[in-house]
Amino acid sequence: MSSTYGTKPRPRRELVVALDGPGSSGKSSVGSAAALRVGFRFCDTGLLYRAITWLALARGVTSADPAGLRSLVPEVELAADERGRLSRVLVDGVDHTDDVRGPQVDLAVSVVAAVPELRAALLDRQRTIAAPGGIVMAGRDIGTVVLPDADLKLFLDASVEERARRRTQERGLDASGPDAGEILAALRRRDELDATRAVAPLRPAPDARIIATDGNRVEDTIDAVVSAILDAEARRAAAPEAAEPEAAGTGEPAATAEPATGSEPHR
Ligand code: DC
Repeated sequence: MSSTYGTKPRPRRELVVALDGPGSSGKSSVGSAAALRVGFRFCDTGLLYRAITWLALARGVTSADPAGLRSLVPEVELAADERGRLSRVLVDGVDHTDDVRGPQVDLAVSVVAAVPELRAALLDRQRTIAAPGGIVMAGRDIGTVVLPDADLKLFLDASVEERARRRTQERGLDASGPDAGEILAALRRRDELDATRAVAPLRPAPDARIIATDGNRVEDTIDAVVSAILDAEARRAAAPEAAEPEAAGTGEPAATAEPATGSEPHR
């Protein structure tokens, strides 16, 4: 299925889509592919938490030092890749995308992401990115906390065994070897930390549509997300025109958003 843009009038403001789910549920691959098909931007908010964690490890800042973690936030920026997805991480202007996906960050990131002061410091960054609309924003708390007024909320789910199997395969590892067992254990641990933290725990918003992906081909999941976006657009186009909120989809007035910095608001 391809984008219908160009064959019908564009809706007033483009939609804001929240895409949440546990680690390795496919949010990034599915979300970015679906966004590309409908001509939306894509933002993987996990990269912000990963970038802060990587920087904290490099500087010796621990999760017991909320002020220290907050002070790292201005150094981190998301940048667009060649397809316009905000999937590159710049730290002080240098690309560290590969570093932030490394195993040390995998181990530490859930603990860092549980620090309320850090989450608060990243809130406006995420809302500023989403404010112009036309975006799929992926994370854990996008539909519940970051963008409670998102036009469409999706929650990708899969069993921990299925997610571990996918990740093992992606990394080209033996499915019956010790690495596969470690991946499963690490995902279980991250699920537990992400879902039980006091602030913005991983859970579907009450109005989220849950897409269960166990046993699905990735193409089927992308199709399901694209269909949901096109349906939401069609519903909106058919609805009577309403006044546009100033910072659409954020649940906050525009005045609370930071001014756009770096390449983050770029489309
Ligand atoms: O999606 P990911 O594995 O790259 O996310 C890395 C970590 O960041 C994960 O432990 C959960 C956390 N995270 C979060 O708490 N809130 C978000 N919106 C995105 C990610």
